[in-house]
Amino acid sequence: MVQTEWLRSLRAVRQFSDKPVADDVLIDILNTGRWTGSSKNTQPWDLVVVKHRETLVGLSKCGAFAWHIATAPLGLALVMHGDDPWTCMDEGRLIQNLMLAAWAHDVGACIGSIYPADNEQRARDLLGIPKNRFLRTVLSVGYPSGPDALRLPPNTPLPRGRRPLDVVVSWERYGNHARG
Ligand SMILES: Cc1cc2nc3c(=O)[nH]c(=O)nc-3n(C[C@H](O)[C@H](O)[C@H](O)COP(=O)(O)O)c2cc1C
Repeated sequence: MVQTEWLRSLRAVRQFSDKPVADDVLIDILNTGRWTGSSKNTQPWDLVVVKHRETLVGLSKCGAFAWHIATAPLGLALVMHGDDPWTCMDEGRLIQNLMLAAWAHDVGACIGSIYPADNEQRARDLLGIPKNRFLRTVLSVGYPSGPDALRLPPNTPLPRGRRPLDVVVSWERYGNHARG
């Protein structure tokens, strides 16, 4: 498989098998996240690994669409050092690298967004995160329960697939979709 094809195969996984993620796999995922590039190489992040079921269930209640954290073998909380746009961009890169590193081990993951503010506070309290840090994302992580775990259930109100290339891409000027 060409590597870009493999990159495109990354899907959000929200249903997990009971198979635990081995420590060496987890450490490899964490190390790959740690090597993510950031603005001015500030590395404005810390990661909290969560395996206690009670804590995972608590975190799953801290976001409108974070339910999948409850049944994942583990959660990765992304504790950010700021909430300015650059730090948010760094967070996005970190998320993608963690997800791709997991995927390279056949381990699935999905973002659980932590919001609004009262939910963020509850999640901070659960994990002991200080006031000068921010928690917007907990990744649920685990082996997919099966092939269906890579597909959205039929009644999910989310769009599937991606917008076509010739709609997304302009050539030379915005809105010029005809390839010159
Ligand atoms: C910023 C951001 C926030 C997201 N928050 C959630 C979330 O709270 N819960 C969830 O189940 N998925 C969340 N997702 C995952 C998206 O739903 C997913 O990336 C999108 O549906 C595409 O999925 P696919 O790659 O499997 O096609 C989030 C993704 C991003 C980039």
